[in-house]
Amino acid sequence: MKLPYEGVVAFTFTACFLFLTTQSGSIAARTRTGNESQRVQRGQRPQKKVVTPKTPRIDYAKFSHQSHVVTQKLACDSCHKVPSKNFKEVRKGDAAFPDVTDFPEHDSCLSCHRQQFFARERPAPAICANCHIAVSPQDTSRWLFPSLGDVTGASLKRRESVSEFGVGFPHDKHIDAVGFNFPDRKERGWLSNASLQEKKKDGPPKNCFVCHETYQPQGNSSDEYVTKPPKDLGDNFWLKKGTFKTIPNSHTICFTCHGADSGIAPEPKDCNVCHKLVVPAQLKIDFDTKLATTMGIADATVLNKWSRRISAGAFRHEGGEHPDLNCLGCHNAASSAFNTLDAKTLKVPVKSCGGAEGCHITATSDDGGALNFELDQKKKDPAFVCTKCHVAFGKESVPENHPQAIPGPKPKMSPS
Ligand code: HEC
Ligand code: HEC
Ligand code: HEC
Ligand code: HEC
Ligand code: HEC
Ligand code: HEC
Ligand code: HEC
Ligand code: HEC
Repeated sequence: MKLPYEGVVAFTFTACFLFLTTQSGSIAARTRTGNESQRVQRGQRPQKKVVTPKTPRIDYAKFSHQSHVVTQKLACDSCHKVPSKNFKEVRKGDAAFPDVTDFPEHDSCLSCHRQQFFARERPAPAICANCHIAVSPQDTSRWLFPSLGDVTGASLKRRESVSEFGVGFPHDKHIDAVGFNFPDRKERGWLSNASLQEKKKDGPPKNCFVCHETYQPQGNSSDEYVTKPPKDLGDNFWLKKGTFKTIPNSHTICFTCHGADSGIAPEPKDCNVCHKLVVPAQLKIDFDTKLATTMGIADATVLNKWSRRISAGAFRHEGGEHPDLNCLGCHNAASSAFNTLDAKTLKVPVKSCGGAEGCHITATSDDGGALNFELDQKKKDPAFVCTKCHVAFGKESVPENHPQAIPGPKPKMSPS
């Protein structure tokens, strides 16, 4: 269906475009990756008539959910439509499922922003940049909608931006949920008759793998580091492959169960049940930007994950015996206190470094525990830096829970 305003938008836009080309401006340079404010200023330069604004200037190139969801109290589905019209084009054939795969359409904005949509701004009204890459009569393409983290393609353009939302995934509820009969889950690797809380001791729960894989594992390769270490590295720390676990980057797994007709709430249209506007917590992070720069780490995923570490920045999932351990031995994921929207509840307790066998925490230092060793060193010399598990925390003083994690003397069998 053609909406009545579309012709007008296209017309205004053509006028803008012609104006721009005669000004020899560069459309190609207008990407969101460039400096935002600079770009907006550049776009507005040709406007000679300066009217003193009565209200503080609003940046219409930077959409915020705060204004629309909190202040204007708009429902998610007043803008986001699911499935989006193009859902069968972005994922082909069997891979396609009813998902939100595109930005909201013009009519979800026009009732309030007619003025901004028809603004005399060059090369195009600022508001277009929230969804479009470069609006021109030849190119009306949009950024890839960010929910399509699993969709790849050389021609697809992603915009790097920080999400205003956190994702709430109640791990504990899903442990109880298993045992339900979901027909197509098996094909996707979900175990229908086992629980997330894998009972088997001799291996990690398979279910966690459905959503969390080892990021860039070393595998059988002899290349163990993420970037080339200096020749004289010795025992010093250098980031290794297989340190991090991934988290889901799309709706693909969630919507196998939470589809529109599965009857399992939340449904796809209930965006707000899974996505919550959050104020990022101000937690100490065990990360050192300078060290990452020295190492020449450019991979955005690695930097993002590393800079979110709040327990142990040096911990490597692929290291030593870690892959053979039960995920739940270190992650409190079966508990209702484990809340993905509240980072501090995701901390890995220091005592889990001891494992069942007392790996890095032993009764006495002679038994070889790394924590015991470092505590001894720190006691002797407060300037000692603990590097076994930490990247930045090791310089600080010892938190109470570290010595407390050392098992006390074993109860004696007979009184002495
Ligand atoms: C007034 C229209 C509008 C409403 C209401 C709205 N959105 Fe959006 N949303 C947008 C637009 C436009 C974008 C793309 C611009 C951007 O990325 O900020 C977007 C982008 C997003 C993104 C990706 C960007 C990010 O910050 O992560 C998420 C997630 C999202 N919306 C979720 C929601 C949820 C959840 C709700 C309801 C609580 C909601 N939206 C309500 C218009 C809206
Ligand atoms: C119910 C009315 C309403 C709807 C619908 C609406 N907006 Fe807004 N929007 C506002 C108000 C009010 C503001 C606050 C600034 C102002 O008064 O213009 C705002 C502000 C903005 C801003 C400035 C930055 C910010 O978020 O504070 C952008 C960009 C924007 N809207 C884009 C959009 C887009 C894109 C859509 C459609 C997807 C949309 N709006 C739908 C009312 C609305
Ligand atoms: C909230 C996101 C959003 C904003 C803001 C936005 N667009 Fe769009 N635009 C879309 C979507 C989604 C489509 C595809 C609609 C469809 O397929 O029916 C589209 C399509 C178009 C088309 C092609 C129309 C057609 O019928 O194929 C043009 C031209 C266009 N937009 C121009 C603009 C201009 C100019 C602006 C700024 C004044 C703008 N858009 C702002 C989301 C947006
Ligand atoms: C069943 C829970 C669930 C529902 C319902 C849901 N999402 Fe998501 N969404 C997720 C998960 C999980 C991810 C991937 C994890 C992440 O990105 O942190 C995701 C990722 C996204 C992303 C990309 C990441 C980001 O924050 O920018 C966008 C955009 C998005 N969803 C938009 C929506 C919109 C719009 C709706 C409603 C039409 C919606 N989602 C409904 C769970 C859900
Ligand atoms: C159905 C998918 C799914 C399964 C299965 C799953 N998780 Fe998660 N997990 C998620 C999502 C979604 C998040 C939140 C991602 C985000 O914050 O955007 C998450 C977050 C986490 C985090 C916190 C990550 C961080 O940023 O610090 C840990 C730890 C975790 N999961 C461990 C586990 C363990 C252990 C299991 C197996 C018992 C498991 N998960 C099973 C989807 C899943
Ligand atoms: C020996 C303890 C241990 C085991 C076993 C373990 N993890 Fe972790 N995991 C950690 C630590 C420590 C962190 C870093 C937490 C932090 O600093 O915020 C972490 C972080 C994570 C993260 C966040 C991303 C990242 O790498 O920083 C996810 C997701 C995760 N683990 C999932 C899993 C899953 C799934 C398993 C089982 C296959 C597993 N973990 C097994 C200790 C462990
Ligand atoms: C194997 C099927 C399955 C998958 C896959 C699945 N869920 Fe669920 N989910 C359920 C069931 C069943 C419930 C109802 C549990 C209950 O009420 O105890 C549920 C409940 C929820 C709830 C609501 C909990 C409440 O408070 O009522 C949220 C939020 C949720 N899931 C998010 C997600 C997200 C996000 C993903 C993807 C990362 C996901 N789910 C993947 C089966 C699944
Ligand atoms: C075997 C691994 C291990 C060793 C060795 C270790 N830590 Fe930790 N440390 C952890 C874990 C896991 C956490 C997260 C748990 C917590 O904060 O309670 C942590 C947390 C911390 C924190 C953050 C506490 C907070 O309030 O957020 C500091 C500071 C710290 N360690 C300092 C040290 C110092 C100093 C040493 C050397 C004496 C040391 N650690 C040795 C594993 C270790």
